[in-house]
Amino acid sequence: VTGVDRFDAIQSLKTALAVFDDVRDIVETRVDEARAPDWCLRRNWTDFLLQLSDSDVADCEAHGLAARVRSMEGVPRDLLELASNIQQVISLPALGTSPHELSRTSRHAIMLRKQAQLSALLGALLHMGSAARRIVDVGSGSGHLTRLAAELFGRETIGVERNSNLVEAASARLGDKQDVRFVLGDACESLVLEPSDLALGLHACGILGDRLVRAAVLSGCDLCLVSCCFQKTATDLRAAASRTAAHVLLRRDVLGLANLTSQAQGVEVSIEATMRARNVRFALRRLLRARGVVLEPGAEMHGLNRRRARVGLSDVAQRALAMRGLDAATDAELAEHEAAASTEYAEVRRLSLPRSMLSRLVEVVVVLDRAASLQESGAHVLVATVCDRKFTPRNLGIFASRDPARLPSI
Ligand SMILES: C[S@@+](CC[C@H](N)C(=O)[O-])C[C@H]1O[C@@H](n2cnc3c(N)ncnc32)[C@H](O)[C@@H]1O
Repeated sequence: VTGVDRFDAIQSLKTALAVFDDVRDIVETRVDEARAPDWCLRRNWTDFLLQLSDSDVADCEAHGLAARVRSMEGVPRDLLELASNIQQVISLPALGTSPHELSRTSRHAIMLRKQAQLSALLGALLHMGSAARRIVDVGSGSGHLTRLAAELFGRETIGVERNSNLVEAASARLGDKQDVRFVLGDACESLVLEPSDLALGLHACGILGDRLVRAAVLSGCDLCLVSCCFQKTATDLRAAASRTAAHVLLRRDVLGLANLTSQAQGVEVSIEATMRARNVRFALRRLLRARGVVLEPGAEMHGLNRRRARVGLSDVAQRALAMRGLDAATDAELAEHEAAASTEYAEVRRLSLPRSMLSRLVEVVVVLDRAASLQESGAHVLVATVCDRKFTPRNLGIFASRDPARLPSI
């Protein structure tokens, strides 16, 4: 089937918002300490959550509470119902197009996970790419998509990127290729598209995704956007792109929830290592607060590479204290916070499960809002998963065109 026969972004957004509006309080209150938040007490979920066994918790963290509650005992009825509604809303179609096979030279020096994303996207873009006068890849990064799209479709292709090192490296990789070039620039400030363009954004992060959608709406050009990192925005609140979601303002920390990934296999490391790192972050937060540092939720790692949390508490704590001009931690202090954190964090993990369950819902709401704004402007739209989550958890693609025949099949 063609995507357009099956997909209505405005209707899908309305359905998603009906679920989302009822859980705004959960989404907006992160569990930061070992105390049940009001949303949990109000719904009488606390006892159920706190009595979960370690293996149930690990299982829910790996696969998501929504996917697991049906096989668990004693689940409150409204939690069960919410989980089922969420499952329905986040079940989006998968692309039905065949991946484009990359030649050995084309895929040289591209990571395997990125290769899978590129093959899937290029395969889905066959009609749009062939119809475009020009292809504009926004936030082109290393430039692989730009280069491969130019190779496949043989027409003028431009990569727009604001990082000069990336533009230089991507240009150097081109050799003597004719129709393709990289332009240094901030696409949030100066992006103008033509109606005959195909605009691309693979992991066009944060506000860049919104700007790309707006530029596509204004020009009426074809678009393929895979969104990521919605929280990368200079403003505290994201206003909706669509009229359908006009009432939905999302805070930056709520947007950040969409980046939380629960899957059996961590993206860069094992799920166990991810959990250990979260425990370390919790202990660090505890220690910093005990030293009088006022912290926004999640701010304990500000200024530090988040991967450092995998090294252990001592390393991140000494760095975080030094950064704030505070005395180094003693061994006794580190041991005290590490021990207290492991008990308290067990509760935090349990109480956090309902909010974590909403991460994909937030992602879907923002993606559908973008898609609905395109549909409202007269485009035909498809939202589909472009590849398996093991290749990237940020795998939701928006495809939009004035010509429904150009959309990929599902
Ligand atoms: C997550 S990376 C994705 C890169 C590439 N598309 C890919 O899939 O490998 C996002 C890229 O967008 C670039 N970027 C972010 N905001 C931008 C803006 N306003 N204008 C141009 N480039 C931007 C970043 O520098 C980064 O290279």
